[in-house]
Amino acid sequence: MSAAVTKAVFPVAGLGTRFLPATKAQPKEMLPVVDKPLIQYAVEEAYAAGVREMIFVTGRHKRPIEDHFDMTFELEVALEQAQKQELLDVVRSVKPDDMECIYVRQAQALGLGHAVLCAQRLIGDDPFAVLLADDLMVGETPVLQQMVEQFDEWRASILAVQEVPAEHTRRYGIVAGTEVNERLLDIQRIVEKPAPEAAPSRLGVAGRYILTPGVLREIASQPRGVGGEIQLTDGIAGLLRREKVFAYRYEGRRYDCGSKEGFLEANVELALAHPALGPGFKQFLKTLAL
Ligand code: G1P
Repeated sequence: MSAAVTKAVFPVAGLGTRFLPATKAQPKEMLPVVDKPLIQYAVEEAYAAGVREMIFVTGRHKRPIEDHFDMTFELEVALEQAQKQELLDVVRSVKPDDMECIYVRQAQALGLGHAVLCAQRLIGDDPFAVLLADDLMVGETPVLQQMVEQFDEWRASILAVQEVPAEHTRRYGIVAGTEVNERLLDIQRIVEKPAPEAAPSRLGVAGRYILTPGVLREIASQPRGVGGEIQLTDGIAGLLRREKVFAYRYEGRRYDCGSKEGFLEANVELALAHPALGPGFKQFLKTLAL
């Protein structure tokens, strides 16, 4: 296993039915929050954490994601000729030269664990990150960077967690374990989407993982889990029997952009924080007199 986390898996094959009709003909990962598609936030977070190999597990109708991270030759020539350097920089920064994008197809939507397994040959024997673009994470230090720092110290899998309301345990992988320090938990149990009365705690897994390659074997050997899907959580439960896995309470804010409410909150808060748009947008919100 190599020392650094240089690979990240982005499972982007999901149908995005919760955002219909917006996602009828475009991937949900391409929905913009302010001025950037969701997937770009996740890729930028991974890049900031030192990841250079971005592995997208895609499905049908996901071509716009590939196009987004490709060179847009005509656009670049047009911007160059018009001497619009600032816009040109914006376009070029989507894929820095030292970043590699690789696409694997997930032919059937068999679950998150299955999506990660589709990247098995590309992951090989290296530790890797998994980022779910639905979860937009904002931290002064990017959340995956915080997790890489923990991985460097503990050399073990790290899952991002946050306290969730008891009535929401059915939406998350829920972990329980022993406190190592105020941010870190040595996980003893992990359960996918338990009912509140069955949940071992209220610590829910957010869509950021750093995993050791051993998890792939575990995912492959687990029976189908919740919803008849091959669950990443069940693979991690298997890994727990062989290796230490830590839960890390990240510093920052998570927007659940898989829900309309979370998506709207992200748009409002990120617009307010936007250096050019923020002040004017704030004035506008004040006029609404809610
Ligand atoms: C997935 C995982 C779940 C995790 C969640 C984070 O669920 O299966 O364990 O807590 O992501 O967003 P999904 O939201 O894809 O249903």
